[in-house]
Amino acid sequence: MKRQTLTLHLQNWQRESFSRMEDPAGIHFFRLNEVHDTDETRHRLYRLVREGVLDEPGHDGPFESFSDFCEKLFYRYYWQHRHTQFIARCNEEWVGLSSVRIISPETAECGLTVVKKSFRGMGIATSLKLRAISHCRDQGVKIMCTHVNEANQPMLSINFKLGFRITDGEK
Ligand SMILES: CC(C)(COP(=O)(O)OP(=O)(O)OC[C@H]1O[C@@H](n2cnc3c(N)ncnc32)[C@H](O)[C@@H]1OP(=O)(O)O)[C@@H](O)C(=O)NCCC(=O)NCCS
Repeated sequence: MKRQTLTLHLQNWQRESFSRMEDPAGIHFFRLNEVHDTDETRHRLYRLVREGVLDEPGHDGPFESFSDFCEKLFYRYYWQHRHTQFIARCNEEWVGLSSVRIISPETAECGLTVVKKSFRGMGIATSLKLRAISHCRDQGVKIMCTHVNEANQPMLSINFKLGFRITDGEK
């Protein structure tokens, strides 16, 4: 299945252009650096990442066990970049994640965005990505990129809405 690369230039990106998009009611937002690295934190993140990977259009096959996730993925993709892991919660339940890595002073790469099934369609992914983009811009990042499966209409639609444009397609 084909993945498309989308790019957003942040120099002229204005958070104010999206001020009409309100945060979903009852949802609170925070970053991974605001919590401690505990077993509970790892389990909560694992549940989100697992659902997102298994549910992504075009994904085929199983997902890592919790122990493999902790060993291979947790630090490298999430904890090491905890200042740019944007999380949504409803009461104590973690319901959404948008993962970003700042890979050079001027460049950031979006990783997984996921919202739990029963919380979709409320604008949570859009709010998470808006926060991620604003944060990166405030950190001096100039360009953000993301790779999205061409069959993933919801994710493509969110990215287009926020200003990302297709710059490449790859098999
Ligand atoms: C993609 C995902 C994160 C969206 O989360 P969400 O909180 O429901 O997203 P939002 O409510 O912010 O926005 C959904 C948008 O998708 C649009 N959408 C939903 N289904 C759609 C479809 N079949 N075709 C086109 N657009 C669609 C909605 O219209 C909405 O856009 P709008 O606000 O302009 O109307 C969620 O569906 C998910 O977790 N999917 C599985 C994991 C995945 O594929 N992640 C992306 C890979 S990185």
